[in-house]
Amino acid sequence: MFQALHETVEFIKRKTNNFQPEIGIVLGTGLGGLVNDIQIEYQIMYSNIPNFPISTLEFHSGKLIFGTLEGKNVIAMQGRLHYYEGYSMQQITFPIRTMKVLGITHLFVSNAAGSLNPDFKKGELMVISDHINLQPESPLRGSNDADMGPRFPDMSQPYKRDLITAALKLAADHNITCHHGVYIAVTGPNLETKAEYNYLRVIGGDAVGMSTVPEVIVANHMSIPVFAISVLTDEGFPEVLEPVSLEEIIETAKAAEPNMTKILSLLISKL
Ligand code: HPA
Repeated sequence: MFQALHETVEFIKRKTNNFQPEIGIVLGTGLGGLVNDIQIEYQIMYSNIPNFPISTLEFHSGKLIFGTLEGKNVIAMQGRLHYYEGYSMQQITFPIRTMKVLGITHLFVSNAAGSLNPDFKKGELMVISDHINLQPESPLRGSNDADMGPRFPDMSQPYKRDLITAALKLAADHNITCHHGVYIAVTGPNLETKAEYNYLRVIGGDAVGMSTVPEVIVANHMSIPVFAISVLTDEGFPEVLEPVSLEEIIETAKAAEPNMTKILSLLISKL
């Protein structure tokens, strides 16, 4: 992997005139709008970047964006990669490793997720304070490159506590309903049955989604502080479960996106 990473980083540096990002941002399904707030300097399609997996979902535009947000140099992934698309865990997390080698010191992640907590309603936000990984594999399986991180990385605080506290305060100051809780990662792409939503709640989840955890594990492996936030796009409450479509999930994500974007921008401005 080291060789591939080196090749990718050299390519990006050449294409971006040696742009030095400080903050990495991964934008979730239906949540690409933060890009409108970035003063874009360069953008590269994933399909043009050596060793980058290509996002197969047509609603993902699949671009790396380089620019400034709140005066900070950022690199944003518009369109994330999911395990259910068929990529390996190493492929999904390759862009995070790339961002680290390019120089990021913080990673911000957004996603769309289903609520499991009856007090957390569709359209509201949830800062991720911890996670449970139910995906079948860790992105760290296989030989470990000690230059990147330890064989057995600590996960006692995978999401940086002072960023969580700051985000909740910013949300309260701006009258935005924003919870905090435990995100459970499943493989998907099917949504859950009633029995599965019930199980996910019982084992300690507040929200469920199909992403984020692989990226967060790899970021922790490389000692990058992480902040992650979910837009709750549907309610996985077993007693009253309604069928939900991808269109509705994307629509709800879009409606809640301005609030999420505001929190992310404010948080980044305070770094
Ligand atoms: N389950 C899993 N993933 C999701 C959901 C859900 O209910 N909503 C958005 N992503």
